[in-house]
Amino acid sequence: MGSNVILRENLEGIEILTFNRPDKLNALNPEVMDTLDRIIPDLENNSSIRAVILRGAGEKSFVAGADIPQFLEFGPLESKAFALKGQRILHSLEHLPKPVIAAINGFALGGGLEIAMACHIRIAADTAQMGQPEVKLGIMPGYAGTQRLPRIVGKGRALELIMRGHMITAQEALAMGLVNQVVPLDKLMGECFKIAKEIMAQSPIAVKTAIEAINHGLNLTFEEACTLEANLFATLFATQDQKEGARAFLEKRTPHFKNH
Ligand code: COA
Repeated sequence: MGSNVILRENLEGIEILTFNRPDKLNALNPEVMDTLDRIIPDLENNSSIRAVILRGAGEKSFVAGADIPQFLEFGPLESKAFALKGQRILHSLEHLPKPVIAAINGFALGGGLEIAMACHIRIAADTAQMGQPEVKLGIMPGYAGTQRLPRIVGKGRALELIMRGHMITAQEALAMGLVNQVVPLDKLMGECFKIAKEIMAQSPIAVKTAIEAINHGLNLTFEEACTLEANLFATLFATQDQKEGARAFLEKRTPHFKNH
């Protein structure tokens, strides 16, 4: 399909995905979600993609949530399928084995904040506003927002954000750990690029394994997660990158990682 609801551009190995419905503040209609669903396997398998940045078209919005008009027609069956599908897509985004950075350039509301929370790193423009306003529509978050938000900011803050449905500023989001950093809007992409490049200079296999340890470990008991960590840690000692990393440190030079 020749859809342009998500634009793609590869700059020096960094794939930039732009949610592109600016007249609707980049709200997530089914076409956007289907497009994202189709793109994610390529993000994983395409070796010319080393990092991913997600942003919204225009200066006003990252993603202003699910497309509200579709909710008028939904009953319980359609809404459950809607939630399960969104959860599956965001799960595959979160589990991508390369860094995924949300460049929050404006409103990140509802499903928009849920997408940002599935990213590994969130950088917000100082003009951005975030929230889970679903209760104002008589619903609640359905793309795993009730689960990721408390894991990121803690139960108390998540309950308040979800029950009040109010918007918070980028600075407030920073103070509660919802975003990693706040920068002026005109510096947003530059900062995301800087972070992506920094991670791309590390061993890709080490980065990938760390993502796996954190994602999977958080769903296990502490003891089980520590066993998982030890096992994954051990796998890295079968790689050339591990030897190169240690050697380069001792030889006081920059390591040259090869992803194996
Ligand atoms: N779904 C569908 N359309 C949306 C949308 C959404 N989630 N969010 C914004 N839009 C549309 C508006 O309907 C409007 O379209 P129109 O010009 O055809 O009327 C356009 O985007 C611009 O939005 P507008 O409301 O005029 O901008 P604003 O600056 O006055 O307000 C917001 C911005 C974000 C506060 C407001 O659009 C809003 O509250 N959006 C809904 C957010 C939400 O509840 N998301 C969670 C959904 S589960």
